[in-house]
Amino acid sequence: MPEDVIAWHAVCPVDEIDEEDVAEFWHAGELYAIYHTPSGFYATDGLCTHEEAPLTGGLVLGEIIECPMHQGRFDIPSGKAKGAPVCINLRTYPTKVEAQQLYVGIPINV
Ligand code: FES
Repeated sequence: MPEDVIAWHAVCPVDEIDEEDVAEFWHAGELYAIYHTPSGFYATDGLCTHEEAPLTGGLVLGEIIECPMHQGRFDIPSGKAKGAPVCINLRTYPTKVEAQQLYVGIPINV
């Protein structure tokens, strides 16, 4: 299977997301969650895989995002669901920092 072709999108200056915080980013009508964790910046789908609550309203605990609706938890770097009520992983997206600007890489045609 060919590797996804991604396009980089500017999210915000890096100092606009505090450590252990999550920001929202919209692209083509889709919500993405952008995290600043102790190990760096990450991006996942913005909606919980349980009942589609926006994870951008959730709580970042180290490298875990806790959903605000039913407290389901996901590992941020891998997107893995950590247990009931969530059982479907989140998609993850690459991030990069250039000149103090944070970017997210979103596959083209997603
Ligand atoms: S909507 Fe996220 S845990 Fe239920």
